[in-house]
Amino acid sequence: MTREKPKNLWLSRWGFILAATGSAVGLGNIWKFPYITGEYGGGAFVLMYLACILAIGIPVMMTEIAIGRRGRGSPIDAISRVVKESGGSQLWKAVGGMAMLAGFMILCFYVVVAGWAFAYTVKMLDGSLAATSVEALGGVFEAHNANPWQLGGWSVLVALLTLWIVAKGVQKGIENAVRWMMPGLAVMLLILVGYAFTSGGFSAGFDFLFSFDASKITGEALLAALGHAFFTLSLASGAILTYGSYLPDGQSVARTTFVVAICDTCVALLAGLAIFPIIFANGMSPSAGPGLIFMSLPLAFQQMPFGTAFGVLFFAMVSIAALTSAISMIEATVAYLNEKYGVSRFKAAAASGAVLLVISLLAMLSFNLMSGWTPMGKNFFDWLDYLTSRWMMPLGGIFIVLLAGYSLRSDIMRDELNLPPLAYALWLFMVRYVCPVLIMVVFLHALGWLMFDPVAQWYWIAGAVGLLAVLGELLRPRVVLALAGR
Ligand code: PFF
Repeated sequence: MTREKPKNLWLSRWGFILAATGSAVGLGNIWKFPYITGEYGGGAFVLMYLACILAIGIPVMMTEIAIGRRGRGSPIDAISRVVKESGGSQLWKAVGGMAMLAGFMILCFYVVVAGWAFAYTVKMLDGSLAATSVEALGGVFEAHNANPWQLGGWSVLVALLTLWIVAKGVQKGIENAVRWMMPGLAVMLLILVGYAFTSGGFSAGFDFLFSFDASKITGEALLAALGHAFFTLSLASGAILTYGSYLPDGQSVARTTFVVAICDTCVALLAGLAIFPIIFANGMSPSAGPGLIFMSLPLAFQQMPFGTAFGVLFFAMVSIAALTSAISMIEATVAYLNEKYGVSRFKAAAASGAVLLVISLLAMLSFNLMSGWTPMGKNFFDWLDYLTSRWMMPLGGIFIVLLAGYSLRSDIMRDELNLPPLAYALWLFMVRYVCPVLIMVVFLHALGWLMFDPVAQWYWIAGAVGLLAVLGELLRPRVVLALAGR
């Protein structure tokens, strides 16, 4: 069977790495990672997070890139082609459809949070954050959200910037943008870490991130770490698979995956090293929750020499990180419309942008005019977050590893991954047994259907992996046939 010819390819060797790192590094690293580390108690959480990146993030990411490159298309088209090549059921396309939808839905609320970062860059500059207490800064944050024009204006700006970059194309739009944004982001981050180093709180911040306290290892924290590993690496949302479809044939999937995962992790840790010292130096609590960077941090900056300048730098960095992630969320949809209906990327971006604006408008209104509309206790913004992170990403993750581990013809992944035999066997073991069980555990627990105490869970997980391995080997031929629809 002849393989699909790529319509688009990254221009330079670094194209994929910069774009995929741009996708991975985002609000998840700079906004969410520090505050959940704060909530779950520091070093122990960091260690669990690293373990999840290694055990799940990396194998799943390799799988997505390999399927994307083999199928050369949007998630739906790429999956359709690889299952066709394997003689499998076209039903698997639904996994691609769900991933694409998840990416789109994440974008609908992500533009709101990204809009906060853009707005705070300006607020830091014009003195609107010159308050004297965290409570007063909380008031500023609430006032910002209560005004639909202000909140909406910033979110729409982020959405338009995102669409404009994506409409310009893979090389001229995305690759050009990440080529200067990513190095810029790295420089800004290093400057901020240097600044934090001089704040007087560096050793407290460092200890908080890296000192290990075994009592903090709880089931709850492990699950938060696992869920975050998915989100931070942009998995099961179409982004990485689509970017992988532009990866030239000669480049190693494993090596690029490791580079992206390492860069993503370093940024999360460096963001922690930039934020916590400043928080500690000003006698604040690391566990302030989602408001950590929007309430505590601006106050801390004000109390420090040159704080305003570094505060502006910080929020500008968050804005860039958010933008390079946002573009990856909509790329799958644009690639799909472009391929399926033959419309130009510009028209595809315009059409998806129209839908994006309507849905994200509802997400913005959840903070003001529609704040009273909370079916089943959640506003629209929370629903988007809940549906994607609790349901769609874990389910998508399970299906993608099952597809690669059980249904695809084995030579397909072997060719694409092109690993030494031992490394290939390890990848296969991870996607067949370890990843599905661990993701299932997060999924069920997140739904509240699975409880366990901190010690028993390890036996539970190890037992489930073992059992699945045995059953998997015994039942494999039948599972393969059933999944292949024969
Ligand atoms: N990885 C991004 C972050 O950490 O902020 C979030 C993300 C990007 C999720 C792209 C999903 C996606 F498709």
